[in-house]
Amino acid sequence: MARKKIVAANWKMNLTLSEGEKLINQLLEGLPEVLECEVVLAPPFTHLQMLVELVGGTSILPAAQHCHAEKAGAYTGEVSVAMLNSLGIKYCITGHSERRQLFFETNQIVRSKVDAILEGGLTPIFCCGESLDIRQASQQNQFVKEQLEECIFHLGPDAFRKLVIAYEPIWAIGTGMTASPEQAQEMHLFIRDTIRQAYDSDISDEIRILYGGSIKADNAATLFAAPDVDGGLVGGASLQPAGFIEIIKAAC
Ligand code: PGA
Repeated sequence: MARKKIVAANWKMNLTLSEGEKLINQLLEGLPEVLECEVVLAPPFTHLQMLVELVGGTSILPAAQHCHAEKAGAYTGEVSVAMLNSLGIKYCITGHSERRQLFFETNQIVRSKVDAILEGGLTPIFCCGESLDIRQASQQNQFVKEQLEECIFHLGPDAFRKLVIAYEPIWAIGTGMTASPEQAQEMHLFIRDTIRQAYDSDISDEIRILYGGSIKADNAATLFAAPDVDGGLVGGASLQPAGFIEIIKAAC
């Protein structure tokens, strides 16, 4: 079964509202109306309303970078999945290594967020990936397998098939050190095989696994050509319209 590729932009904590609006308009002007892949934009919370209004009726889908696992309550500064859903947000990133490292999100917390996102009717973009130390010790497969087991393998098959997975080796995020297409393919195949063992081959064949980590216009096409790489989660390079459009075209 052909998997529809996804190119997702993670703006992180970048761009003011007017800068974000300009970038979205440049993307809308530069992209063909009909795309063969899904384009997903995850700006900061403050920009979501504007994003939804600008991309309504186009093939760009709005996403959040983060959410809280609880439905409501005394969680100062947090945003619930129901709030995101009420705005028309379709995807929510969770398990990103920056949230894990800087905001102490454990596998247990990520698991509860995956559940909350699915229950709230959005699609989780679940991130996993190893640090440089772990890769240098050749422990990356075991490490990623454990992240899958602890964060998403509790899901029943119907919930699991709704997920999007993003493999983001930490050593490649924001460093300019992209994984080679061979390294990405090897890990994506490992993830797909691990899913096949935990579920079945229908599910492992249909689930989309994105690569993330220093994707740029000049390396996107070779990464996306790897048979088990179903698109990308793009940070820094998603802030430049011309380069990001090239990356989207490499997938679509
Ligand atoms: P990068 O970030 O493209 O800037 O490496 C990717 C990510 O963190 O999702």
